[in-house]
Amino acid sequence: MDPATAETLAGAVETRPQMPAPLPPDERSAPLRDRILAAVALYPEPRSALIPALRLAQEEYGWLSTEAFEQVADATGFTPALCKSVASFYDMYRLHPAGAHEICVCTNISCALVGAGETLREFSRELGIEPGSTTADGRFTLRTVECYGGCGWGPVVSVDERYHEPFGPDRVRPLLDELRGQPG
Ligand code: FES
Repeated sequence: MDPATAETLAGAVETRPQMPAPLPPDERSAPLRDRILAAVALYPEPRSALIPALRLAQEEYGWLSTEAFEQVADATGFTPALCKSVASFYDMYRLHPAGAHEICVCTNISCALVGAGETLREFSRELGIEPGSTTADGRFTLRTVECYGGCGWGPVVSVDERYHEPFGPDRVRPLLDELRGQPG
């Protein structure tokens, strides 16, 4: 890593805001359809509930399958095609099954300028997979994503939907060791 990038990353560490603690797991006691209907009831227009409804379906199944889109469509009154068109616009929705841990590296311009490419290559090398794929044991999915909105603290990496920033290549191995030590 060149000195200028190292200095930028060190500065980013100092100014980085504290991330809130993760929310406790959702109990998911109500059926998915009921939870989607509750979200729809929060908005004057059902269309406004599509984003949270898709989110609820993804939390239920881990990704958005054809069946998941049909359930969202059934509860919101839109077509599965419209639901899928909305989901396909955003990086946070999974249109394919993911591994037990999903690692996403922002490769947009601000992160790229402070070494996101190095971080991505290190993940790729350590996991033995290309971005956009999952390890053979199903434990890790590696993806690139567009801007996460944390441009001042790049490179930004999300692991299981939690941001880690700035995330240089030196943090790759310790993170994977930690994840590999977890059950599942
Ligand atoms: S460019 Fe990576 S968070 Fe904005």
